[in-house]
Amino acid sequence: MSKSYRVAILGATGAVGTELLELLDSRNFPVADLKLLASVRSAGEKIKFQNAEFLVESVSDRSFDNVDLVLASAGGSTSKTWAGVAVSQGAVVIDNSSAFRMHPTVPLVIPEVNPQALANHQGIIANPNCTTILMAVAVWPLHRIIPVKRIVAATYQSASGAGARAMEEVKVQSSAILKGELPIAEVLPYPLAFNLFPHNSPLTEAGYCEEEMKMVHETRKIFGDPQIRITATCVRVPVLRAHSEAINLEFETHFSPEVARAILSKSPGVKLVEDWKTNYFPMPIEASGKDEVLVGRIRQDISHPCGLELWLCGDQIRKGAALNAVQIAELLVEKNLLNTAIR
Ligand code: A2P
Repeated sequence: MSKSYRVAILGATGAVGTELLELLDSRNFPVADLKLLASVRSAGEKIKFQNAEFLVESVSDRSFDNVDLVLASAGGSTSKTWAGVAVSQGAVVIDNSSAFRMHPTVPLVIPEVNPQALANHQGIIANPNCTTILMAVAVWPLHRIIPVKRIVAATYQSASGAGARAMEEVKVQSSAILKGELPIAEVLPYPLAFNLFPHNSPLTEAGYCEEEMKMVHETRKIFGDPQIRITATCVRVPVLRAHSEAINLEFETHFSPEVARAILSKSPGVKLVEDWKTNYFPMPIEASGKDEVLVGRIRQDISHPCGLELWLCGDQIRKGAALNAVQIAELLVEKNLLNTAIR
């Protein structure tokens, strides 16, 4: 008889939580029982899953009794409070926050890139940052053929990265502006509709924001290559749910765009989207709701003989967060690693 698992979603009412539920259903994850956890704000709400209604509970000490798997997407401080509790009660936690990503004993996993990292998990597995996931899925297949020495990234990040309330805020702001009214910013620091601004995560001493430094540190950890040089500029744009990235890659030797194209057209999780005749390349609106990272505009960097330029778009909520987490859960089941956490 095939096994099924008691699953809890921490942050079930959020943008990623909602997508996690959809994916567990559409990908037929073997769910024996489901707990929907959020803050006191939404306790008592009802959410439908597979023809049944589940009550949202406010997370507490007792929430993880009899739970095998926790999919957490409720922010770093919530994960820091509850992940250890869940693990001590026997659950494996796949955490979408940045709380544990750089912890040396916590695997940071993209199934298409480093599934082997799951083998020695100790109860918590971290889902990487969304911009990092999208970039890594596209760059890893090339890096395996000729090592990348340096990555220069510029991101165009959707409102979904700041949560469901930010997505709603952009819609309200857009409607206000179209009516000639002043847009109000409450969730995001500035009006995003008809605007953009540098990513508003806290600034570090070097002048980079935390989001940019996540791309640096997390990519190195996932690729297992601490030498790779990475620099990024992250920008929030008024797109609802798919991120875009312009990526410049410097390889150890020349990498022809034709070979890169041939490799990426067969790489897992990647879809090549290019029609040079009609100037048709990946667009966030077409990446929304899709599982694959759309990659295109692969071209020789005219400023460097070993350089390549590419452009990508990927659904931030899906592959950038919920889908990657569910793929990790599927791998844990496949490798029989769900029941081997400390008990
Ligand atoms: P709630 O709806 O009760 O605020 P998003 O990333 O879309 O903003 O979603 C964040 C998710 O995390 C929501 O489900 C939210 O629940 C949940 N959340 C936020 N803070 C807490 C907390 N302190 N404890 C539990 N869940 C939380």
